[in-house]
Amino acid sequence: MNIKLLTHPTMKNVRVFVCENYDELSEKAAAIVGGAMQQKDGFILGLATGSSPVGLYQGLIKQYEEGVLDFSKVKSYNLDEYYPIAPENDQSYVYFMNKNLFDHVNIDKANVHLPDGNAADVEKACSDYEKEISDLGGVDLQVLGIGSNGHIGFNEPCDEFVGPTHVVTLTENTIKDNSRFFASADLVPRKAVSMGIGTIMNAKQIVLVANGKNKADAIKAALEGPVVPGVPASVLQFHKNVTFVLDKDAASKLEIFKEN
Ligand code: GLP
Repeated sequence: MNIKLLTHPTMKNVRVFVCENYDELSEKAAAIVGGAMQQKDGFILGLATGSSPVGLYQGLIKQYEEGVLDFSKVKSYNLDEYYPIAPENDQSYVYFMNKNLFDHVNIDKANVHLPDGNAADVEKACSDYEKEISDLGGVDLQVLGIGSNGHIGFNEPCDEFVGPTHVVTLTENTIKDNSRFFASADLVPRKAVSMGIGTIMNAKQIVLVANGKNKADAIKAALEGPVVPGVPASVLQFHKNVTFVLDKDAASKLEIFKEN
């Protein structure tokens, strides 16, 4: 593996690994996440959907199959879910997580949590989800992807950072990006429930994965731009323990973060 560690002259809380390709990125991210999971019984794992973490999840499944990782006491909390959407819908994040991780490891499904995409009282569902996570003291490690517009979870670019789990109206950009998974853009739900920026920042550790040229601007803005709600991922510059695991393309516009 040929992985470079980039650091910032002053921002020592943020590590950036640049990998040759998606496979290396996935292996590196799985090593970081799996390594952290082994340190604690009853690990609280924050999970993300999207195409970026699929390889990371395959790496975790491999570690489970090799007997290195045990999910039996793990509790998981997903970042977000479309609203409204039925869990059986093959575009729901419930379906995605079962298919890409939960069905392949020994996690107790009673310990799996996602925002309720079908809640009758969605505001109450948001505050219940937030309380549950905060009562646990936040997640131990949060996996993140990033939208091409800099969103994390479904926290879209806006005028202010929203702290707790909340209902989000998706931007046209995100509807367009995510329409590749649906038969047509009309079928993409217009809303979602997402952990807020506060929920995410309360995680003890964060690992963000991103690959491909279409993420290069978002990664540059997140890491080297000002911390502004117009680029939700930029808030990660203030997190005490955050690691970006990127491929060369996603890292291609970084200038201040350098190998040294
Ligand atoms: C969705 C998810 C995000 C994810 C983003 C990027 O909008 N809510 O959590 O980071 O997609 O997806 P991808 O990894 O497929 O580019």
